[in-house]
Amino acid sequence: MGSRSSPDPQLSTSASGRVPTGLAAWRTRPGFSFSAAAGSLPTAVADEVAEACRPGPGSILSLPFTTSAYRSLQAETEACLRRLLAIPDEFVVLFMAGGASTQFALVPMNLYGADTGARAVYIDSGHWSRRAIAEARRHCPVHVCALAALTAAWGCGGVPETAAAQARVGMSVLEDAVGYRPAYVHVTPNETADGLQFARLPVTQAPLVADLTSELLTRAIDWQRLDVGYAGTQKTIGTPGLTLVIIRRSLLGHARAGTPRVMDYGAQAEAESRLCTPPVLPVFVAHRMLHWIEAAGGVAAMAVRLAHRHALVTAAMAAGEDVGLYRWSAPSAWRSQVNPCFQLPDEETARRFFAAADATDLHDLGGHPERGGVRLSLYNGLADDAVAALAGLLSGFACSEAGRCHQAP
Ligand SMILES: Cc1ncc(COP(=O)(O)O)c(C=O)c1O
Repeated sequence: MGSRSSPDPQLSTSASGRVPTGLAAWRTRPGFSFSAAAGSLPTAVADEVAEACRPGPGSILSLPFTTSAYRSLQAETEACLRRLLAIPDEFVVLFMAGGASTQFALVPMNLYGADTGARAVYIDSGHWSRRAIAEARRHCPVHVCALAALTAAWGCGGVPETAAAQARVGMSVLEDAVGYRPAYVHVTPNETADGLQFARLPVTQAPLVADLTSELLTRAIDWQRLDVGYAGTQKTIGTPGLTLVIIRRSLLGHARAGTPRVMDYGAQAEAESRLCTPPVLPVFVAHRMLHWIEAAGGVAAMAVRLAHRHALVTAAMAAGEDVGLYRWSAPSAWRSQVNPCFQLPDEETARRFFAAADATDLHDLGGHPERGGVRLSLYNGLADDAVAALAGLLSGFACSEAGRCHQAP
């Protein structure tokens, strides 16, 4: 019998048969990933997930969503999320599939209603808000506020602290005196591709909707200001496939006529998010990750740890910043804690930087394809060792580039 070609992608290798490629390369490479697209899981969580996936009658991979076992899994996941984020009772949590981008359509379908005199207001702060805007335009009239206009009104210190200060310095740019009723205001508080983050949510008269995909559970949420928050769970909460929607109950039931029932927030809330088969495995991963966060001290502890990590890498970059090697993509008042991004002076320097990163097994540091440069994604599941190694790379590369690396005596 001739040799069989294996369908197992883990076994696929290059033509020479020696260098792993594709999934095999991913699965065998040592070191740490700083991918912005998907966060890593803490080892303890990954071990629990692997154990639960083991074949056999109790495998989580074949847990039917119709069982009481799944219902308690989802209920416990929701309860833990509520504890961690202090979600008030007047909010409903939906467990949906389809990714955060699906919500770009579902938000106008559910919140715009039939008022033709209204417009949905979107703050254009970068790549992902633009993706949300482009989708919303397919569903309703949209008014776009450029962040530049807002910062001109707000001053360069980011969103003003208090509602009174916001009113004083021109939230009007957002929604007053523009000749239409704002149906809702949409904001992307952490622009993953641009390395830009709102220090706090704006105060709005209309319902405020936030795409929290790259920051949920990295800091507390001000529920006085927010009415709808949604997030794909692949970065800070677990694995791809689940999108959490946290919505004020009073906003349910306004989906426009013709909205498919599985996309209708009200119908999903009534069916406890089980109008169609929910993404069972990602819900399980989120369950384990949420409990891991709780055991680690909750969201307050995640926020403190993130600030510490951000400070560590920022300090490691200081010398390189001084000599113009590292150039932040966003001004300091708007710099993302979670996904700080910077540019290098030219392509040749970038090539050397990524070669140095590869040589130390630090992977997936490239910026978003539309932005280039370098992106440091500091999601909840990242190991301390990874952050320490990253800081070493950033300071070491600056030293080697500047030719002023001092040997310790
Ligand atoms: C802020 C933000 N929104 C939306 C998305 C899109 O998420 P999904 O791929 O789950 O649709 C991303 C992905 O990186 C993101 O960072």
